[in-house]
Amino acid sequence: MSVAVSLKTYLADWAGSDTSRQAVAATVTAIAEAGLGIADLVARGPLEEGLAKIRGVDPNAGGDAQKELDVVAEELIREKLLPTPAAFLASEESEELIPLNPQGSLVVAVDPLDGSSNIDTNVSVGTIYSIMPYDASTLAKPEDAVMRPGSAQVAAGFLAYGPATILVATFGAGTQVFVHDRRTGEFLLARTDVEIPAETKEYGVNQSNVRHWDAPMQRYLADCLAGKEGPRGKDFNMRWVGSMVADAFRIFTRGGVYVYPRDKRKGYDNGRLRLIYEAFPLAFLVEQAKGAATDGTTRILDITPHHIHQRIPLVFGSKAEVEAIASYY
Ligand code: AHG
Ligand code: MN
Ligand code: MN
Ligand code: MN
Repeated sequence: MSVAVSLKTYLADWAGSDTSRQAVAATVTAIAEAGLGIADLVARGPLEEGLAKIRGVDPNAGGDAQKELDVVAEELIREKLLPTPAAFLASEESEELIPLNPQGSLVVAVDPLDGSSNIDTNVSVGTIYSIMPYDASTLAKPEDAVMRPGSAQVAAGFLAYGPATILVATFGAGTQVFVHDRRTGEFLLARTDVEIPAETKEYGVNQSNVRHWDAPMQRYLADCLAGKEGPRGKDFNMRWVGSMVADAFRIFTRGGVYVYPRDKRKGYDNGRLRLIYEAFPLAFLVEQAKGAATDGTTRILDITPHHIHQRIPLVFGSKAEVEAIASYY
């Protein structure tokens, strides 16, 4: 019987004696450890009072109400990252970059808790991260470290806290799935070089927003709903968890597309998802698994941000279906 490879072993093998890889490995290890702390809280559910309680009166920089667990998750990640080679942390829950290790060579961007609206419903939530190189000597100000196209990422991934706590990670050579083994306490490699099927009949959207969407996306959905008799010539199925990490993991497992377009509501002119700590890492993971990610017209990884909390219309998943959606624009 072969022994499953642990995250520790995987990272040690991948990094070898390369110091920049060792820095990334230490950073991902710290995020995975923070994730176990978050998973622990999530698993206590209603025993852990007030995790879904709205905190204070002010929304976060992006305009979302902050729940207790959003803030606690960020704090757990910050603490674990302090002794690592991460110089700064960009986070959904903090307006500005958070300084970490002054000698650090990396910048980390996180969505500490994805799926905030699902915290108290016993549905999967997660943590998303993106890692880029950081070199103070080339930057006018620290923020510029994250104002680079998504193709500058050296690693990205997400944890999902569901029936299993999983880590989906890429280091730029394929996408790997690790599962937390409660018996040994380790993350074990469960699927290597994941491939998202190119074709799909499954989409995920928040259908209550369709009347606000832009015209190309309304046409796409109408054609899906027309089924076999319509222009797409096939019947579709809809699945939507409302935690992007959970919707993404389903897509990594059996294909599909996740769609959150721009819409006419105030504050939604660039959709809902944030470019730096949601769209970039998902796009990197998806492309490394032979899928695709676009805002409708531009490949996500080619976009250069101008603001930490900038939003972006987001479509990702099965390559042929993502291309079909782009053809409506
Ligand atoms: P977050 O909880 O980090 O703010 O992100 C929520 C995102 C994503 O997880 C989800 O797919 C989407 O927002 C759902 O948005 P709405 O329910 O507001 O449509
Ligand atoms: Mn939020
Ligand atoms: Mn999120
Ligand atoms: Mn969040």
